[in-house]
This record gives sequence, C-alpha cells and structure tokens, in this order.
Amino acid sequence: MTTYLIKGARPYGEDTVDIVLRDSIIASIGEDLSVPGAEVVDATGLVALPGLVDLHTHLREPGREDAETVQTGSRAAALGGFTAVHAMANTDPVADTAGVVEQVWRLGQEAGLVDVVPVGAVTVGLAGTQLAELGAMADSAARVRVFSDDGHCVADPALMRRALEYVKALDGVVAQHAEEPRLTAGAQMHEGDRSARLGLTGWPAAAEEAIIARDVLLAGHVGARLHVCHVSTAGSVDILRWAKFRGVQVTAEVTPHHLLLTDECAEGYDPVFKVNPPLRTDADVQALRAGLADGTIDAVATDHAPHAMEDKECEWAMARPGMIGLEQALSVVVDTMVETGLLDWRGLADRMSVRPAAIGRLEGLGLHAQGRPLAPGEPANLVLVDPAFRGTVDPAALASRSRNSPYAGRELPGRVVHTFLRGAPTVLDGKATR
Ligand code: DOR
Ligand code: ZN
Repeated sequence: MTTYLIKGARPYGEDTVDIVLRDSIIASIGEDLSVPGAEVVDATGLVALPGLVDLHTHLREPGREDAETVQTGSRAAALGGFTAVHAMANTDPVADTAGVVEQVWRLGQEAGLVDVVPVGAVTVGLAGTQLAELGAMADSAARVRVFSDDGHCVADPALMRRALEYVKALDGVVAQHAEEPRLTAGAQMHEGDRSARLGLTGWPAAAEEAIIARDVLLAGHVGARLHVCHVSTAGSVDILRWAKFRGVQVTAEVTPHHLLLTDECAEGYDPVFKVNPPLRTDADVQALRAGLADGTIDAVATDHAPHAMEDKECEWAMARPGMIGLEQALSVVVDTMVETGLLDWRGLADRMSVRPAAIGRLEGLGLHAQGRPLAPGEPANLVLVDPAFRGTVDPAALASRSRNSPYAGRELPGRVVHTFLRGAPTVLDGKATR
C-alpha cells in the first residue's frame, strides 16, 4: 500500500504541518517531515478535516438506478469530502430486511469510495403499520444502528414507542422524518403568506413541531435515543433545546439547503426547489444557523435526494420533493456557518464528522471507525479543502446521476481537493480515483 506524505496542510485551519498516511492510518503529523519512497501530495494552503460523515443520503439502489446508484452516489460523496454515508431505506424494495441492507452494504464495498452504511426501515415497506425486523438488520453484516422510515413519518405514536423500545435494546436510534401527515395532505411548500399568494397548498411548521414534541416525550419516557431528520423550523429548534435541557437523548440534523435557501425560491415555480420538509422563512434559517452553532442541532446531513428528469422537470405539484447536495454540502456550510463566523473549522468538523459518526455509532469500529480526530494512530480518513476557492455550480459537471441541484449557477466558497479513505485516495486534485 502506498505511503502518502501530505505537505503543508492546516488541520482544522490551524498551524501548517505535514501528515503521513501509512497502512490505512495517520502514521505521523509534524513539521518538515520527509519519508523516503512516499508519494508526496502538495497541500499548501489547504485545510485538513476528518472525512465527513453523512447521516442522510438517498442512493436509490435498489430500484431507481436511473436516478442514482451506490456507485454514482459514492463518487458524488467522495467528491464532496465524505468518507461515510448512511444510505436511506426508501429504496425499492425497501431496506426493511437483513437481505436488502446487506445488498446495499455489499454494493458500497464494491464501489469502494466511501463507507456505505445502510439505514434500516422502521416499519415493513415504510407502511407505518408493522415493525420491520430491526434485530435481524442490526445483527446482519451491515450492522444497522440507524432506523428510519424517511420520506414517511412514523405517525402512529404507539408504534413509535415500540420502535424506540426496540432500538434501545440494539444501541440504535430512530431517525424520524417529523411530519404529521394529517396536517400536510397535498402540501407543496411552506405554509404562509407566500403559499397563499402562489396558490400552493401549505405545509405548516406545526406539522413538524408537533411530531418532534411528541417524540421527545416518548424518547424520554422510554429512555431511548431519538434522532430528528432535517429540522426546518425555528419552533423545532426551541423544542429540541427544551428536550436536551430536560436530559432527553435526542439529536438532530439540518440540511445545507435549509441553512441557505428560503421559501422565496418557490416564486418561480421551479420544482428544483420543491423539497420535504419545505424551504422555510428567513427567520427559520437564522434560527437553524444559531441552533447548529450552539449545538442544539448536532449535525449537518445532506438529504441528498436524486430524482430522474421526468420526476423533476414537470409542473410543481406533480414533481417529487428533494434535491441533490453531496457535492456542495461542505461549500454551503462554509458559506453559511464559517464565513459568517458562526462556526470555526473545528466546529464544522464536529457537526459534519464527529457528531454524525457518534449518532450512527461509527466512532468505535477500530480501523473502520469514522469521525475520529486527525491524530497519529487514527484511521486515515480525511479531506483537504481549499478555503480560498470560489466557484459557480454547474449541475452538468456533477458526479451524481441526477441533475436536481438547487445551487445551479450559484457562487459558493471552498473546494474539496483531496479525499482519503483509510489511507487510500478516493479524490485526488478534485477527481475521483475510481
Ligand atoms: O425531499 C425529500 N425527498 N424529503 C424526503 O423526506 C424524502 C426525499 C426523497 O426520498 O426523495
Ligand atoms: Zn425526510
């Protein structure tokens, strides 16, 4: 295995050092290192961060390989600086058995660009009526710890309680898509003055907040871990703050698009901006940024949701919700959180690597651990970012098989230059190695 000598990098944006990667681990970090025979990587001016970990990626395989595959999504992830992604369960067939999660896990290994960590469905077929075989998925080769019906809410409170009881015994977590379905029938965008004016059915903030409030009470009662997917409203942040203060084991994620974009994007009726939960108001965006900065929101997760052309380039009401985001996630967080002074690079590493890995229970896997610090002896998972770069997003240039990027034509800071997974480059000079 090749030894890499990374010259002139700034771990966490701090002092300039050299980093040696050998036999899958960080062998040493220091000044003016020289390693005979090593491959030298020039990282002058680049910020080094631990490999990013996504808690929420839709890879669409099996079932919608026309929109994305484990291979194409893995490449997009590596180019975005990720070394692990959790693959959501709303595939076809649904990832609700040990067989399907093992299939996804194996496809991830074959692609070999990031650790693909399957999420298991909470209920059979995401139908919300009968618990899936959570224990068998946890015990499978895929080692599932995160369970989610994402795309759908586990709306039945008794079933949600039962799911929390099961995951508690498995050291797992229920990742809830918080949406009270009785309040969002036919919903198209955030409910407010703008939805009324545009003539689109509204998705009220209360539909999200009511489920989060209910679920933190249930999680507290059961003593189980709850994770809230894609938090989108100021009220949700308030409820999470209250629940954490009360000692509930709750964690939460926010997407890059909810940190940057608002419901104003719906003005042109371009379905690329249709997403679930919907883009909210500027006040919500500010509250989400503040919640991520103070740690009330633990993690950034992409909710990368690739869709085929025919499912997006149609009338707003007919379009599927969702947007791609793996390749721009880091840039959007740099734009909204680092350049605004809300987070430093260490804070970004915490929210995009350390905490998501801990939520997914990936931090204790020895050589296969993720979210570990940049330190000698740790697995060599890292990303090198050019913080001075600014570029305009061209969807045609993305590695994802789908084109539904809400950032098309937008200028964003930061560029992933190199990514390493266990000491092997998955991205070199901005290009995927496989
Ligand atoms: O916008 C969304 N798209 N939200 C979800 O919850 C599911 C996702 C998808 O699978 O397309
Ligand atoms: Zn969701």
